[in-house]
Amino acid sequence: MKGKKVSKKRSKRISKLIVANWKMNPDTAEEAKNLFRTIAKVARTLSGVQTVICPPFPYMALSKTDGKVKLGAQNTSVEERGAHTSSVSSSMLRSLGTEYVIVGHSECRAAGESNEMVAKKIRSVIQSGMMPIVCIGETHRDTDGNYLAAIREQLRQSLVYTERAMLTSVIIAYEPVWAIGGKEAIQSHDIHQAVIFIRKVLTELYPPEVVRSIRILYGGSSNAGNADDILRHGEVTGLLVGGASLDPKNFGEMLRIAAGI
Ligand code: PGA
Repeated sequence: MKGKKVSKKRSKRISKLIVANWKMNPDTAEEAKNLFRTIAKVARTLSGVQTVICPPFPYMALSKTDGKVKLGAQNTSVEERGAHTSSVSSSMLRSLGTEYVIVGHSECRAAGESNEMVAKKIRSVIQSGMMPIVCIGETHRDTDGNYLAAIREQLRQSLVYTERAMLTSVIIAYEPVWAIGGKEAIQSHDIHQAVIFIRKVLTELYPPEVVRSIRILYGGSSNAGNADDILRHGEVTGLLVGGASLDPKNFGEMLRIAAGI
C-alpha cells in the first residue's frame, strides 16, 4: 500500500522542469513582455514539460502565467516585513502568483548570502506555500574529492530548518559554479555522479522514501545543444537555465527536447 503511494507520487513528477533564470535581464519591461510571450507560446504547445520563468522583480507582475508556464522568483528575503529597504518578502511573491523561488544562487552567495540565510529562506518559501529551488555546487573541482565534501556541507547547512514534512516541496539545483555562464556544461556522467552523491547526503538526513521523490535539476551552461544529453544521462529532472533562457529560439528548443524525453 505504502509502495503504491510512493510510485503514484513519482509518476506524477515525471514531467521535466525547465526553469528560466533571467538574472538582471532584459533591460526594459517591453522586452521582458515580448520574451515572456514568445517562450509561453512554445511552452503552451507542449506536454511533459513544466516551464518556469524567473524574471527580475519589477517584471513579475507583467507575466501572465498558467498551467504550462509558472512564475518563479530569483530570490526572497529572510525577513517577513518591516524596515528592510529594498527587500521583497515571500508573502509578497506568493501574492503575485509565484510558485517557485530560486534560493542560494551562487551569484547571491558570492554577494554575501550565507548557508544560514539560505536555510531561513527555504523555510520562509515553503511556509508561504511555494517551492524553493535550492542551488548548491562546488566552486571548483579537484581530483581528490574535496569538492564532494563542499557539496555535502552546503547541502546539510542549507537544510537545517527544513523538516521532513517540508522536504517534498524542495527542489535541488546542482550548479557547479565553475560551469556557470560558459559555453560548455560539464559531462553528463559527472552530473549523474553528483546527483547520486546529493541523494546519498539527503538520505543521511531524511528517510529514503522521501528523498526518492526529490527533484534535482542541473544548471550551468545548459543550452539546446547539450540539453538532450544532460536530461537523458545526467539523471536530472530538469534544468536551471541562465544565458540560453534569454534566447527564445534556444530556450524553446530546450523545452521541445525536454518534452520529447
Ligand atoms: P547559465 O546560468 O545557464 O548562464 O550558465 C545558470 C545559472 O546561473 O542559473
